[in-house]
Amino acid sequence: MGLEFTLHATDGRARTGVISTPRGEIRTPAFMPVGTAATVKALTVDQVAQTGADIILGNTYHLMLRPGPERIQRLGGLHRFMRWDRPILTDSGGFQVMSLSGISRVTEEAVTFSSHIDGSKHVLTPERSIEIQADRLGSDIVMQLDECVSWPAERDRADAAMKLSARWGARSKAAFGAREAQALFGIQQGSTFEDLRRESAERLIEIGFDGYAIGGLAVGEGHQAMCEVLDYAPAMLPQDRPRYLMGVGKPIDLVEAVWRGLDMFDCVLPTRAGRHGQAWTWSGPINLKNARFAEDDAPLDEAVPCPASRDYSRAYLHHLIRADEILGKTLLTWHNIAFYQALTGAMRTAIAQGRFDAFRADFHARQGA
Ligand code: GUN
Repeated sequence: MGLEFTLHATDGRARTGVISTPRGEIRTPAFMPVGTAATVKALTVDQVAQTGADIILGNTYHLMLRPGPERIQRLGGLHRFMRWDRPILTDSGGFQVMSLSGISRVTEEAVTFSSHIDGSKHVLTPERSIEIQADRLGSDIVMQLDECVSWPAERDRADAAMKLSARWGARSKAAFGAREAQALFGIQQGSTFEDLRRESAERLIEIGFDGYAIGGLAVGEGHQAMCEVLDYAPAMLPQDRPRYLMGVGKPIDLVEAVWRGLDMFDCVLPTRAGRHGQAWTWSGPINLKNARFAEDDAPLDEAVPCPASRDYSRAYLHHLIRADEILGKTLLTWHNIAFYQALTGAMRTAIAQGRFDAFRADFHARQGA
């Protein structure tokens, strides 16, 4: 088993603990900055590390298309290639095929798709996804290949995708085998159907994974419907294993998911929206493009321990973003990742001190949610 999970404290359903891997510890609740193409866009790995991130996420889909998993392996694996020596979790590719590629086709055997870069045809089986993640890239936490349906989904469609994902989970586990230094996570599907979520969890637990993800959310159902699934889904998964909510979310989504028992998150939002001028602060979200910041000499958020948050005026950031300067994208991305790390850090402390309900109420009040 490639990881150990130790719970330090619980407060209601919320938990805080540590995932130990050979490449280092991941404090939970944890937010994983997205480093899709072997880079957290606009940041150096030193800047990422300085925000307090313990782990980043990489994508099988992008890396298999460019520069290719075999090339990354020849260059020493993903950690060495991108100069990040802490843990990396890689997503398996199926979800990105669904959201990014042109035509794609799912069969029992594999997902076949055309590249969004040059239209070339590719095939991804559960076994090839494991091989790419575990053997070529050298990922620390490997995700099974799954099929995620969009929302809203017909029940029959959600049922079939959930069952296919479970069969792919079994094939992924067989291909992964027993590894000392790497971990494999299963992915629960089932859309917004409680009984399908339960059957999915039961099938995954039967197979046995190092951790369990909740997939198929944040695909258009909205905050309310997502929270309704999170009211029941985490309890279906083992207490003593990390629970990872894939592709989520806004700061308020993270707080609500942690309150319901989730431990790990990833999302492109702080990086992608940052490049477009959006920043999250303890007082709520702001957009630096807005004319009201043109002569605002205050920093983004003095309470976030990051140079991008403290040392530059909002007026300067407004100018950089308006002028489409590269530095504006870097500073806003850096700040947003630092804010997400400050947020998960504050949640860990609040849970450990048994005051997460008060933290949550205060966060809602400040964010205007
Ligand atoms: N990222 C966000 N949602 C999902 C999902 O359902 N499956 C996978 N593999 N990745 C995701």
